Amino acid sequence: MEEKTIDENRQGEYLMIDTPTQVVGRKLLLESYGCQMNFSDSEIVASILSEAGFSTTRDPEEADLILLNTCAIRDNAEQRVRGRLDYFRSIKKRKPEMVVGVLGCMAERLREKLLEEEKLVDLVVGPDAYRDLPNLIDQVDTGQKAVNVLLSREETYAEITPVRLNSNGITAFISIMRGCDNMCSFCVVPFTRGRERSRDPKSIVKEAQDLFNIGYREVTLLGQNVDSYKWNITNKGEIVNPDEPTVNFAQLMEMVALVSPDLRVRFSTSHPKDMTDDVLHVMAKYENICNYIHLPVQSGNSEVLKRMNRGYSREWYLQRIDAIKRILPDAAISTDIISGFCGETEEQHQDTISLMKEVQYDLAYMFKYSERPKTLAERKYEDDVPEEIKGRRLKEIIDVQMECSAIRTKTYVGQVHRVLVEGTSKKSDQHYQGRISQNVVAIFPKGDAKPGDYVDVLVNDCTAVTLLGEITAVYPRVIAAQN
Ligand code: SAH
Ligand code: SF4
Ligand code: F3S
Repeated sequence: MEEKTIDENRQGEYLMIDTPTQVVGRKLLLESYGCQMNFSDSEIVASILSEAGFSTTRDPEEADLILLNTCAIRDNAEQRVRGRLDYFRSIKKRKPEMVVGVLGCMAERLREKLLEEEKLVDLVVGPDAYRDLPNLIDQVDTGQKAVNVLLSREETYAEITPVRLNSNGITAFISIMRGCDNMCSFCVVPFTRGRERSRDPKSIVKEAQDLFNIGYREVTLLGQNVDSYKWNITNKGEIVNPDEPTVNFAQLMEMVALVSPDLRVRFSTSHPKDMTDDVLHVMAKYENICNYIHLPVQSGNSEVLKRMNRGYSREWYLQRIDAIKRILPDAAISTDIISGFCGETEEQHQDTISLMKEVQYDLAYMFKYSERPKTLAERKYEDDVPEEIKGRRLKEIIDVQMECSAIRTKTYVGQVHRVLVEGTSKKSDQHYQGRISQNVVAIFPKGDAKPGDYVDVLVNDCTAVTLLGEITAVYPRVIAAQN
């Protein structure tokens, strides 16, 4: 169990274009915070700026342009970015010509205010305006500040081929939609990412096929609520173009799974109110769709869920869990939980604890409620659970989850699992790491395998969240000859 969050587990990574093909022009340092969608967006930004002649660096002293792709989900996510900006301020004192830009959700939330609050920032660009980056940088070069925070109803960056950053050449993210229409009362995402829109399935399947052809063996389909993916159909259920098929998420996942049985398919995030049995049946039908579902519950109490505007009750959620356990008995399930939401009583908190014990999650991302400006909760409810109580409840939630995770991890010991080899273990260069279908990391001696191969691993031991084992069979990766 890790008390880590989607937006904290990869925070602040430097993103490098692995094989710069450009003649070295200006140097870009691109740092990303937040969820997987933000990391995926950074790959779009890298693509747009590499076309505009930038190459990447990790060294701020060498950078002509520093871009921070930011997250606004909780106050501490924003504070972390402010801390980074302080650091870059000290460098800019020595190098006044260096351009500093803020991208992503914090840029969208704060807009021009960011220029007032953070004097060193030259450039503020929201998530739907990245195509405009080269123009905006030109504008900054003429000595002006530049801002574009227009949100779009159409932009999906569908035809931009992302430059894979920090890539292992084996696993990749594919954004299938943008924005969110759900308006959960605690959440800033609908304000920072705009309206929900789905990307053309043809471009998604092509991206998966292209990745497979160059050796990638796993794709993760990304959206804030993948279950509401829809193509060629309006929110009201009307068909847009009668000559084209409509595609829902279950169908899209099937199309991607059919690219090759050797391409693993994962996805995130599912929404309990929209996850249909169709999705579960497609998962059951295809071996290469991984047995792992992230199904954020947020709270185990129906009244709290109502105030959160989540669109489901405790009973509905548990009935979705039953459906998973019935249709996919081997699936691992993870969740997100918020402690101390507005008005949460001790009994309501206990309902969250009892739900966790009932579901037995494999993994959970757990947070203290952080009030976000403009959200429904901020306008309608008082943030009235004292900080210490939020903290104490969070600790209780974490303790329960640590126990569940340890028990779940142990169940894999003694079993053989198919693992996609992702690369050398961070802790030992004699070992590889990869994940089993259920998304648990396995570590094992390298033997004759290579990254990108599938291997069978006999799990003979485990730590709290990691499996330890040895290879019993290797299925080498075959990359089709390129012409
Ligand atoms: N689209 C996903 C969640 C994206 S945000 C979904 O609907 O599940 C990731 C997680 O951050 C959320 O699931 C929630 O648990 C947490 N989160 C969002 N807003 C928050 C806030 N204001 N305070 C604390 N946690 C929050
Ligand atoms: Fe936020 Fe809810 Fe949308 Fe998730 S579904 S991004 S929690 S509004
Ligand atoms: Fe953060 Fe924006 Fe993602 S607020 S969690 S980076 S969508």
